[in-house]
Amino acid sequence: QPIRLSDYRVPDYLVDAVDLDIHLHETATRIRATLQLRPNPAGVAGAPLHLDGDGLVATAIALDGEPLPLGIAEPERLTLAEPPRRAFTLMVETLVDPSANSALMGLYRSGSAFCTQCEAEGFRRITYYLDRPDVLSVFTTRIEAERAVAPVLLGNGNPVAAGDVPGTDRHFAVWHDPHPKPSYLFAIVGGRLDVLRDATTTGAGRPVDLAVYVEPGKTAQAAYAMDALKRAMHWDERVFGRAYDLDVFNVVAVSDFNMGAMENKGLNIFNDKYVLASPELATDADYAGIETVIAHEYFHNWTGNRITCRDWFQLSLKEGLTVYRDQEFSADQRSRAVKRIADVRALRARQFAEDGGPLAHSVRPDAYSEINNFYTATIYEKGAEIIRMYRTLVGPEAFDRGMALYFDRYDGTAATVEDFLGCFAESSGRDLSQFFRWYVQAGTPRVTATTRYDAATRVLTLDLAQDTPPTPGQPVKRPVVVPLRFGLVRRDGTEQPVRTGAEAGLSATEHDHGVIELSTPSRRLRFEDVAPGTVPSLLRGFSAPVRLTTDATDADLVTLMTHDEDAFNRWDAAQTVLSRLVLAGLRGGPAEPAPLRAALSAVIETGARDPAFAAQVLTLPAVSELAHEIGRDVDPDALHAARERVRAGIGTMLAPAFRAVLAAGRNAGPYAPDAAGAGARAFRNAALSLLAAGDPENGAALALAQFDGADNMTDRLAALSVLGLVPGAAREAALARFYSDFADHALVVDKWFALQAAIPEADTPERVRRLMEHPAFSLAVPNRVYALIGGFGANPTQFNRPDGAGYDLVASVVILLDGKNPQVASRLLGAFRSWRLMEPGRRAKAEAALRRVSGQPALSPDVKDIAARSLG
Ligand code: ARG
Ligand code: ZN
Repeated sequence: QPIRLSDYRVPDYLVDAVDLDIHLHETATRIRATLQLRPNPAGVAGAPLHLDGDGLVATAIALDGEPLPLGIAEPERLTLAEPPRRAFTLMVETLVDPSANSALMGLYRSGSAFCTQCEAEGFRRITYYLDRPDVLSVFTTRIEAERAVAPVLLGNGNPVAAGDVPGTDRHFAVWHDPHPKPSYLFAIVGGRLDVLRDATTTGAGRPVDLAVYVEPGKTAQAAYAMDALKRAMHWDERVFGRAYDLDVFNVVAVSDFNMGAMENKGLNIFNDKYVLASPELATDADYAGIETVIAHEYFHNWTGNRITCRDWFQLSLKEGLTVYRDQEFSADQRSRAVKRIADVRALRARQFAEDGGPLAHSVRPDAYSEINNFYTATIYEKGAEIIRMYRTLVGPEAFDRGMALYFDRYDGTAATVEDFLGCFAESSGRDLSQFFRWYVQAGTPRVTATTRYDAATRVLTLDLAQDTPPTPGQPVKRPVVVPLRFGLVRRDGTEQPVRTGAEAGLSATEHDHGVIELSTPSRRLRFEDVAPGTVPSLLRGFSAPVRLTTDATDADLVTLMTHDEDAFNRWDAAQTVLSRLVLAGLRGGPAEPAPLRAALSAVIETGARDPAFAAQVLTLPAVSELAHEIGRDVDPDALHAARERVRAGIGTMLAPAFRAVLAAGRNAGPYAPDAAGAGARAFRNAALSLLAAGDPENGAALALAQFDGADNMTDRLAALSVLGLVPGAAREAALARFYSDFADHALVVDKWFALQAAIPEADTPERVRRLMEHPAFSLAVPNRVYALIGGFGANPTQFNRPDGAGYDLVASVVILLDGKNPQVASRLLGAFRSWRLMEPGRRAKAEAALRRVSGQPALSPDVKDIAARSLG
């Protein structure tokens, strides 16, 4: 039953053109599809034609104008047993009910609007089709609706006609997309929407009309998204030489959306949380998310749309590459180092967790049973790390040449990751066959570094070793190519030069790039004339997605933290010392932050210049990350408590400095969502959080004052999260006030649900159950479900309660939701990704909950797959 990469065959038929005539109606939308088909010369001659359907009802079928019996159409497929052996025209009419579409795939309603989501296999819920990404066709879409119901009618490509339907209250719009595309990029929107308009011109002089459509009354909240879009368009021309290729670019924000957003050609559809923002309603993190996702979807126009995927096994070809591109964009718009730190923090928290658990899979999987379950941190974020490693290995020039070659050679085609890799092999003249293992081997490689210093000869020996732990279905791993950007940091803070490289055992390329390539299980390097106390700084900029363990002492780490010219490694050294401290405390040892006093004080002092970086240093690794470091028999209560003790220790030790930070920030000017403003707020809020950890009573008072006085959501919500950790009437009153102040703003109400789901207290499951009864809660709205239930699933102590109540709660909601929206249900079930790390008592409870889910009759393929793989 799983679909295998090795079974790939080219399609037997091609579609030259698709004409769609869609009559929108709340419960009975009629779609007439006219397909210009012909046998694929590369396919099997005379093969039957199978068009994909999903729950479809055909009301008319005709071949070259001749009616065919409706019996050839079943809900899941339409079959022509003996199609003509020449070009032919197939007309199929289907009838769908968008109001009953609770899965939010295909044509559905969000509020009063109509919209679509077709990736990965939603188009087959609209009409019968060769619903696979390697079938590219030119789409023309006519949409008709009652004018009052849907004054706005949008499709892919350029608008070519519009008008009234004479003698009726209906109107129509015709859209034509000249660029051949697969069906997953199809989209339409119809509804009563307001629009924010703007325009731009490409470098080649093409004028492009830009529009962001939002619910009535919200155009002011679309301004930042529009600004981000224009910046992204110019950046892609400047950095990747990619210009836009249609006359219009439309973005539509809807409030009911399973994922983040979708790159439909010329008509991107967004979860409105990645479009809407104003200082009073959105946090700095929300603004940054909007900038990233707007750019991501826009960048797909080249990496995904112009060059698409041959099959869904190649998903990372477009997603990994597009994440890499949006990360680089954001890095250029903000602080590169801080962006890298934030990305790696997310990678470690989500992707490393996935790669180290039962759901581990490779970036290019070789089998799947439900493709929607592969829109994962591994496909996206590890995929992006692979792109970054190409650049590190071949160097920036060969990387740019490889990208240019890729765009040139594969434009208009459906490509594979091998095609992509081939471009860099060619542009660099390097054999990248071993590098390809990054795509096919799951699991996070471990790299260990051991040093030996001989004071007499002044030789520093560096021993490197790698191995990758087994993952489901892949018991034996082979060595990968690990690019380790490196330097040697002397105790006095200066950089020890590596003279020729040859003496150390480095190749000329390695020496020129400053990158050690570890491609064997182990390797020894010998650095000569090294000053005593010199510390290797490895994996600078996080040059490979590996877990690095070194024998650095705490003092060595403080040296790096203080002096490393690589900001990422300064941060990472701090993270390592801090997590050592937590783990020491967990084992009952001393967890005194005193040795960090000087280094942390220095960070706080430089915080005036680089507050965003300081905020990152002052944020400890998350419990989930620490749990993976421990690796087995984790007691999350003890771990959370140990982490809080370290935070409290730092808060107490540096209280005067933190108070000064808060006092200095009091007169910060008016809110601006830019990097500088966001950094300053992040720094102050990190200070507040640590101060409160050290002195909860005083911290709660400070937080309450900030909560009351804040003129922006970032500071208000940060204060409320600090209050969230302090039980009592003040917290409950603040929560109540927050709700009544923002009850009309769905995205803020989501924050209110999420914040309560995150409270690390024993009555949180009870609170979550109560909140599920709240009038504002709805299982039908993905954002709401992700906020409350997803938020609870990410609560390390309460989801993983020893009594199993947390597991049961999530399992129950998954079961409840599965019949309505399998994608959201399956994503919620992902909360169990690390259950095997727990101590035996919790493990047994988690397993029982998973078995309860997997034992349900009539599970969706989505949930069935995640449950089965989680159980292993
Ligand atoms: N291609 C979209 C993006 O990353 C994600 C769409 C995923 N949708 C889904 N139903 N799996 O930009
Ligand atoms: Zn994407």
